[in-house]
Amino acid sequence: MTERTFSIIKPDATRRNLTGKVNAVIEDAGLRIVAQRRIQMTEAQAKKFYEVHAERPFYGELVEFMTSAPVVVQVLEGDNAVARYREVMGATNPAQAADGTIRKLYAESVGENSVHGSDSLENAKIEIAQFFTDADIVG
Ligand code: CMP
Repeated sequence: MTERTFSIIKPDATRRNLTGKVNAVIEDAGLRIVAQRRIQMTEAQAKKFYEVHAERPFYGELVEFMTSAPVVVQVLEGDNAVARYREVMGATNPAQAADGTIRKLYAESVGENSVHGSDSLENAKIEIAQFFTDADIVG
């Protein structure tokens, strides 16, 4: 089934000029980038986006990291896009990520792990709506 998922290319990747390389892995995996914008995330945006992790010990560090440099927010479209993008990203911890995945190729640590992808179709819709309107998405 054709789905849309939400992606963020994180500050560790934009800082190292890896946006194009990450996008190449995404496109080579058969996912289509149907919306994309480079933004400086505000503290309020990062806090809201990661609200579910508010009680985790790394929450403060995560918000600080996500606002430390520009990010690229994206909508990806394709067959089973949510699960497919999670495969393409690899495990949260790059040490456990499979060969050829974005995190294996580029991530620096469990915190600075280069990309975010939605974990369910329901969350994808919520996350997309935080950064894009329907008019921004051209499939
Ligand atoms: P992401 O998929 O964006 O969703 C939550 C993020 O929290 C995760 O990727 C990591 O970047 C971050 N994270 C998860 N575990 C840790 C950890 N132990 N220390 C720091 N950051 C973490």
